[in-house]
Amino acid sequence: MNIETKNLSYSYDTSKKKTNFALKDVNVKIDNQEFLAIIGPTGSGKSTFIQNLNALLLPTIGEVVVDEYIIKNKIKIKNIKQLRKKIGIVFQFPEYQLFEETVEKDILFGPKNFNLVNKNNDLKEMATKVLDIVGLNASYLNKAPFELSGGEKRKVAIAGILAFEPDVLIVDEPTAGLDPIAANNMMNLFYKLHNLGKTIILVTHQMEHVLEYANRVIVFNDGTLSYDGKPWDLFSNLELVKKLNIDVPNIIKLYNLTCKKYPKLANYKVTNITEFIKYYKEVMAL
Ligand SMILES: Nc1ncnc2c1ncn2[C@@H]1O[C@H](COP(=O)(O)OP(=O)(O)OP(=O)(O)O)[C@@H](O)[C@H]1O
Ligand SMILES: [Mg+2]
Repeated sequence: MNIETKNLSYSYDTSKKKTNFALKDVNVKIDNQEFLAIIGPTGSGKSTFIQNLNALLLPTIGEVVVDEYIIKNKIKIKNIKQLRKKIGIVFQFPEYQLFEETVEKDILFGPKNFNLVNKNNDLKEMATKVLDIVGLNASYLNKAPFELSGGEKRKVAIAGILAFEPDVLIVDEPTAGLDPIAANNMMNLFYKLHNLGKTIILVTHQMEHVLEYANRVIVFNDGTLSYDGKPWDLFSNLELVKKLNIDVPNIIKLYNLTCKKYPKLANYKVTNITEFIKYYKEVMAL
């Protein structure tokens, strides 16, 4: 599945004279099976951008092309349901996404809505399977979504999207508010799904995750795309990072400091602490 935005601008302003744009002339091509991270300060347009990708918001100017679908203002999209089945979004605030009386019903809403269930399906088994994938056991099936903690709600929202097997999974700050182990488990889940062939689009404020998991990162600043490239190339360029107002992962700070003392370390690219220790030992053994 290929996604392309062409001169995409978006304004929430419904009056004729639009002055405020949340997205300004964004041109991006997202290839099949990428693990793309989207970063940028609060209010820079990240959530607005992802909602333009499956026609939850329609471009004010420009267009979004997703395979054979052309998403454009004032043009009716044929088979929009099919498009939304292909691109699943887990919202930044999952409480907006959960509305059924029980977790089971919520998870099965998508598959039913997209006509993916028939009388031969064991619905409970279907819901249990995706709950298990996100790390929740079957005891959650009968719980009411509003009784859950923030992290649990997010997991249920992800399970509900995985249940209809989209090709592209977009997650908006999925690890915010999770404890570190749960956050790592969730990132490993996305990594696994990515290796199984899904395109992952991750909006995050956690630079460590960008460096470790994403193969590409785009940066928004005030609605404008200000960087598109490899995470390493961004984080290792101190001038650029400063210019874009981006925080550097702690592991890069440690790496930079250590490189000053042991310049040979600079021959290695480091994306996490395990790699850092490995290469540090190698350099020390030289
Ligand atoms: N429903 C809305 N109505 C009006 N303006 C909005 C709405 N949602 C977002 N905006 C505005 O659009 C701009 C971009 O917001 P957006 O939510 O896309 O930012 P973001 O990068 O996702 O920020 P955060 O990191 O805080 O989630 C902001 O100026 C915001 O105030
Ligand atoms: Mg947001």
